[in-house]
Amino acid sequence: MSTEQQVRRHFHADARRFDAIYEENKGPAARFVDNVWRGVVRRRLDLTLERLAPLKGKTVLDVGCGSGRYCLAYAERGAERVVGIDFAEAMIDLAREYAERLGIADRCEFIAGAFPDDLPPGTYDASTAMGFFDYIENPAAILALMRERTRETMVMSFPKAREWRVPVRRLRFRVIGCPLFLYSEERVRRILAEAEITRYDWIPLDRDYVVVAHR
Ligand SMILES: C[S@@+](CC[C@H](N)C(=O)[O-])C[C@H]1O[C@@H](n2cnc3c(N)ncnc32)[C@H](O)[C@@H]1O
Repeated sequence: MSTEQQVRRHFHADARRFDAIYEENKGPAARFVDNVWRGVVRRRLDLTLERLAPLKGKTVLDVGCGSGRYCLAYAERGAERVVGIDFAEAMIDLAREYAERLGIADRCEFIAGAFPDDLPPGTYDASTAMGFFDYIENPAAILALMRERTRETMVMSFPKAREWRVPVRRLRFRVIGCPLFLYSEERVRRILAEAEITRYDWIPLDRDYVVVAHR
């Protein structure tokens, strides 16, 4: 099975559990565990919204959109058109369901497919890829293709290779059979250079490096 197939299979099966990170109604024990191990998922969203504001009238692409939480937030903040792409169908099912429920489905398009191959032609004011490069074997090539689709700002995260949670995270992904790619600061900066991204803000956030790139 290829890296992509393994990643897709994992997130298709794990969609509801992953999405539950964003739920507020949890017991104290679940909230504590989420906060320590996966709190970065929510903090990334807050940071992204802050960095992309104002979103009114903008078009945004979200690569590896998962259950669509970023896309929904963009549309709720006035984005004119939002496209999310993810190859895990169960994630896309959730995203479509939420967009319908919130009454913003007319501005949100969710594509069940792989980036870059299944994304129709077109460019966007902004693009995001949060918690995505953790699962990407050839990040420089993928990043260069994201850059081609983006007119203004790109926000993306890369998980740190050296961090206290790494050994447990590595072990967990080995056990569940999902590939995981981690990065040193030097490697991320090299990947950015290879993708010809030269103007960017560097933001260490919890277990990630977040990069806000300007075209
Ligand atoms: C950890 S989830 C993050 C979801 C979302 N960005 C968030 O932070 O809530 C990573 C997602 O990337 C998707 N993914 C990984 N590689 C992909 C690819 N090449 N094309 C489309 N989706 C991909 C996975 O299916 C998974 O849903």
